[in-house]
Amino acid sequence: MKNAYNAKAYSAASATSPLAADTIPRRNPTDRRDVQIEILFCGVCHSDLHQVRNEWSEAMPTVYPCVPGHEIVGRVTKVGSKVERYKEGDLVAVGCMVDSDQTCPRCQENLEQFCPNVTFTYNSPDKHLGTVTHSGYSDSIVVDERFVLRVPSNLDPAGVAPLLCAGITTYSPMRHWGVTKGKKVGVVGLGGLGHMGVKFADALGAHVVVFSTSPGKTEDAMRLGADEVVISRNEDEMQKHAGSFDFILDTVSASHDINAYLNLLERDGNITLVGAPEKPLALSAFSLLVNRRSLSGSRIGGIAETQEMLDFCGEHDLTADVEVIPIQKINEAYERLLKSDVKYRFCIDMASLKAEWTADMPT
Ligand SMILES: NC(=O)c1ccc[n+]([C@@H]2O[C@H](COP(=O)([O-])OP(=O)(O)OC[C@H]3O[C@@H](n4cnc5c(N)ncnc54)[C@H](OP(=O)(O)O)[C@@H]3O)[C@@H](O)[C@H]2O)c1
Ligand SMILES: [Zn+2]
Ligand SMILES: [Zn+2]
Repeated sequence: MKNAYNAKAYSAASATSPLAADTIPRRNPTDRRDVQIEILFCGVCHSDLHQVRNEWSEAMPTVYPCVPGHEIVGRVTKVGSKVERYKEGDLVAVGCMVDSDQTCPRCQENLEQFCPNVTFTYNSPDKHLGTVTHSGYSDSIVVDERFVLRVPSNLDPAGVAPLLCAGITTYSPMRHWGVTKGKKVGVVGLGGLGHMGVKFADALGAHVVVFSTSPGKTEDAMRLGADEVVISRNEDEMQKHAGSFDFILDTVSASHDINAYLNLLERDGNITLVGAPEKPLALSAFSLLVNRRSLSGSRIGGIAETQEMLDFCGEHDLTADVEVIPIQKINEAYERLLKSDVKYRFCIDMASLKAEWTADMPT
């Protein structure tokens, strides 16, 4: 391919194929605003799994081969002539977006995640190569500097990677809905997003209640910043909290009863869905009518807010709890994600990808 080089990657060839070693084209960093990044760590988001297995076929069908991964931390290896913010050697990060039109009202308001022409880090049309965007399960990426973020120097890079999706996706709705001291906040599901939600709600001063289906996570939830833990399958425990929450963040990745959580909201309380299950959720109108409750959604966060979140994490010495894995364990990690067996984010050490490469593979 013209103006492109081959990068090493792990890709899925179809919805039923395991991820396996591959080479993918990356544009040469010739564009004046391009930043070329050697990827050091990439977090494993449940969205990677949904996308690889084409579980969102109606909203965003997967184009194969699919290279997922939108929680990227790496080192700058080359910059274009017009790049002002970064230089070779800087530790930087890339999240779920790599471009947008920069001109629409949403972009003007720093809400690029809602831009009608946003380019996601994977599974979006690639304007430069005419293919589909390929993401972080690879050894390098080339990104417009406007979508590259600064990493606070005091934080561990592996623990920073998940902030780029799990972090901003939980931080943004909490800021939007005014999570502060004195508010009672629920976090449903203690996985990658959920554990970051607990850390942020705690750092923002709220009274934090975790709802989990996994009794074995109680101790961890308290350590992460929860004030109380409710095992959501226990109806009596749920009932004790009826009508008492200001805000609930729902991070669950699979079908579940949303009404059970709506019933826990106080007057004018809000529940925000960030989890994106494959199938629609059933909603009882009465769960909303009572107490003038609202149900909303939220998608990641804009670039400026993502930088704000990273800086907040730098100030509060806050990172994700990661289980660092070699990329060769990725298929196993997906199976464990489906069993809610993660403490609390898998993060790929990309040195393992470079080590795997053998001489007979094209470079
Ligand atoms: N809106 C956005 O912009 C955005 C961004 C990133 C991810 N997402 C979506 O958010 C969801 C969560 O992502 P994640 O990476 O945090 O996933 P994850 O690490 O797998 O965590 C999901 C958690 O949900 C709970 N859970 C799983 N299955 C359940 C079930 N059947 N019933 C009740 N609870 C269940 C589990 O927590 P317990 O063991 O504590 O019950 C699990 O740990 C995914 O759907 C993902 O695609 C959305
Ligand atoms: Zn994600
Ligand atoms: Zn726009």
